[in-house]
Amino acid sequence: MNILKGKQIIEINQASFDALKIRFKQVIVDIGTGDGEFVYKLAKSNPENLYIGIDATAENMHAYSVKMSRKPAKGGLDNLLFVVANAAQLPQMLHATANAIYINLPWGSLRDGLVKADYDILENIRCIAKIDAKLQVLITYSPKYENQEIENRKLPILSLSYFDDIHALYQDFGLYLRKTTLLNNDALKKVGTKWTNKLAFGKTRDIYQLNFDIR
Ligand SMILES: C[S@@+](CC[C@H](N)C(=O)[O-])C[C@H]1O[C@@H](n2cnc3c(N)ncnc32)[C@H](O)[C@@H]1O
Repeated sequence: MNILKGKQIIEINQASFDALKIRFKQVIVDIGTGDGEFVYKLAKSNPENLYIGIDATAENMHAYSVKMSRKPAKGGLDNLLFVVANAAQLPQMLHATANAIYINLPWGSLRDGLVKADYDILENIRCIAKIDAKLQVLITYSPKYENQEIENRKLPILSLSYFDDIHALYQDFGLYLRKTTLLNNDALKKVGTKWTNKLAFGKTRDIYQLNFDIR
């Protein structure tokens, strides 16, 4: 599995990953982590758990990867990993690892796979989850602001009833949509990732929070 050590991509083997994992109570994964600040903050305040930020673009995670590699007094952490991987091809090593998975404001193929219930994305999410793991997704786009993107990528128009309609497709992958919540910009302000902050203080939006049980 390719992980970041500072700005360098190195490979970690199964034995090293198992030895790391065993030291922690739970494993929490953030897919499409971007700069990784979300998992960095969680890792800092919950040293009993292991946090794994995953992104297809290594450079996005550089700043927090460098920070977590420092000495503890300078922000270093030993309960955080940044994995360089595409959500459609997650490392076998992560199989049945995650107690909880977050996906905050995905874009590109990750977003498309989620809203269209694509095999590659959903099957990979299911594979890395432990039985009874939780998955929380925050997702937003709108014909008001992203019409071109919706047309180009043939994206469905999001609504509460859209998620009602496709919940059975999610279920085929063991993803049971327990609750769909419509959030506004104010609610987004409390999440505190780079992109939730960007959007929360921007145009007025409908944001969908999807909470799944994975079985
Ligand atoms: C809008 S950013 C959100 C970043 C972060 N979650 C946040 O809230 O600040 C979307 C991220 O998803 C990542 N991404 C998109 N498609 C992906 C895929 N198929 N696999 C892994 N990461 C992906 C992008 O590289 C980008 O960093």
